[in-house]
Amino acid sequence: QIPIAMESLGVLVTYPLFPYLEQELLRRGCHLLRLYHSPETNHLAFLRANASSIRAVVCDTHVGADAAMIDALPGLEIVSTFSVGVDKVDLVKCKERGVRVTITPDVLTDDVADLAIGLAIAVLRKLPAADRFVRKGAWKTGGYPLTTKFSGKRVGILGLGRIGLAIAQRAEAFNCPINYRSRSKKPHPNYKYYPSPLDLASNCDILVVSCALTDETRLIINRAVIDALGPQGVLINIGRGHHVDESELVSALVEGRLGGAGLDVFENEPDIPEELFQLDNVVMTPHVGSDTVETSMAMADLVIANLEAHVIGRPLLTPVV
Ligand code: DGY
Repeated sequence: QIPIAMESLGVLVTYPLFPYLEQELLRRGCHLLRLYHSPETNHLAFLRANASSIRAVVCDTHVGADAAMIDALPGLEIVSTFSVGVDKVDLVKCKERGVRVTITPDVLTDDVADLAIGLAIAVLRKLPAADRFVRKGAWKTGGYPLTTKFSGKRVGILGLGRIGLAIAQRAEAFNCPINYRSRSKKPHPNYKYYPSPLDLASNCDILVVSCALTDETRLIINRAVIDALGPQGVLINIGRGHHVDESELVSALVEGRLGGAGLDVFENEPDIPEELFQLDNVVMTPHVGSDTVETSMAMADLVIANLEAHVIGRPLLTPVV
C-alpha cells in the first residue's frame, strides 16, 4: 500500500539513481527534479528556479547535499542518502535547519566486507595481473611468478564498526590474527586494541581502513603510518579516499616503501593518479563496495521506507539526524 502522502512529493535527485529506486519513487507519484540535468556550472541557479516544491533530497556518495544546496531549498525536510557514509551531507547545516537525514546501514555490510577481503587476496595473490598474464598468452612461454599468502596474515582494522567487525569475522576464517583501532575499546577479547593508528600499522601485515570519514579520521593514513606498514605491508581502503594522504601513498608504492594496496576509494573520484596504473601490486575498483544488485535493492527499499515514514509522520528507520 503506497501512502497517499508520497504522491506529488518533490524530490531532488543529485545523481542518476539505481533504476529500481527511480522507478519506485515514480510509482509512488513523486516528482523528481534531477540535478544532473542542470547546467554543470550553475546548479544553484537551477535549484533556486525549480526548488520551491522540493521537500526531499535523495543523494549518494557521488553528489551529496552541501550547505549551499540545503540553503537553496527552503522547503527541504529530509535528506535520504543511498549510502552508509554521510560525509557528503552537511550534517551541521541539516541540524541547524531541522532537516532530517537518513542513511542505508546494515544492508551493505556484507558486500563491503567481502570486497575488503577480496581486495586483500587480489593484491597478495596478484590476481588481476595473473588474469592479464593468461589472457595475453604469456603462460605458454613460462609460469607466473610466486605471490604472497593471505591466510594467517595479521590484519589491522581501522574502525571496528559494523563493516570493520564483518571484515574481522571474515579474516578470522582465514586464521588471521585481528588487531584494531577504534574510537573506543570494543568487547572482543580475541581482537587486540591499539589506540594509535601508528601502533596498529606497526603490528599488522594488512591494514584495512573501514572507519567513517570525520575530522578526526581525515588523512589518518599519513606518511608515518604508511612507513610503519612497510615494504611487506598492504593497505586496503574501502572507507573514503580522504582517509589517505594519496600523494604519500603513491610515492610509497612507486618507491617500494609499501608492499601493495587495494583501493576502492580515491581522493578525487573518478580521477586516479596515473602512476598507479603501472603497478601490479595495486588493485583498484571504482567505489563499488555496496554495488551488487541485491544490496542496491535493499538500500533503495530503505531510502523509500525512510521517505514514507517521514511523510506519514512515523519514526524514521535509519536516521542520523
Ligand atoms: C557507502 O555506502 O557509503 C559506501 O561508500 C559503499 O561503498
